[in-house]
Amino acid sequence: MEYVPPWKEPYFIAIAGCSGSGKTSVSSWIIQKLNVPWTIILSMDNFYRELTNEQRALAFESNWDFDSPDAIDFDLAIEVLQSIKKGKKTDVPNYSFTEHKRTDRTTIIYGANIVILEGIYALYDKRVLDLVDLKIFVQEDYDVCMARRLHRDILHRGRELRLSIKQWERFVKPNFIRNIQPTEKEADIIVPNGVENKIALNLLLTHIRLRLKTKSAQHLAELAKLGRNCDQD
Ligand code: CTP
Repeated sequence: MEYVPPWKEPYFIAIAGCSGSGKTSVSSWIIQKLNVPWTIILSMDNFYRELTNEQRALAFESNWDFDSPDAIDFDLAIEVLQSIKKGKKTDVPNYSFTEHKRTDRTTIIYGANIVILEGIYALYDKRVLDLVDLKIFVQEDYDVCMARRLHRDILHRGRELRLSIKQWERFVKPNFIRNIQPTEKEADIIVPNGVENKIALNLLLTHIRLRLKTKSAQHLAELAKLGRNCDQD
């Protein structure tokens, strides 16, 4: 693909959907197919609020609601996104699901071309929506989401099956129905069956490539204008 780095502003894609719907797989697929340098996935998980020791103790018993919008520090998320959008060197917090807290390390992002913001609440906050160029909602059946989630929780997030099921029933599914599913209406495109849906994904890819091509052309025109102005000085 014809592409002229670095653009002045990165292209932002937001991908929302139920926990376990396949947001990460769709993000990775897009990155792999686009093949544009400095494309990054930014997870909304990095912006979970810090908990007190008492709250963390509840989290270890699956009695803490990580699926409410209140669990996420949207102000911090917006600060980070705005900074990346302006092309500034930006510290992004890292999150540990096994510890239920931010790690000591941050990831430094500098000069991204494309940013994919993925998370259950990626299409929730108006300020995030205003920053995003393309909004995607991944649709998947609850039972598929739940099966994937239990598998991942136990294998990768150090959880117990009984506690994972409890969390799903008490917090994950009710919050999805109440707060996340309604954000589907914000999406430019809804992708049923996630990464399996190659027709939808290829259409999406064609659209993104077109938008990037336009962005590159605009960028080149601006550079040329700048060059002409310099010649005249
Ligand atoms: N969560 C958790 N413990 C924490 C913080 C978050 O169990 N300390 C859970 C929340 O219950 C929330 C989920 O993490 O539902 C958000 O991550 P999810 O969307 O499931 O993960 P992704 O891999 O980003 O999504 P997908 O499975 O769609 O790829």
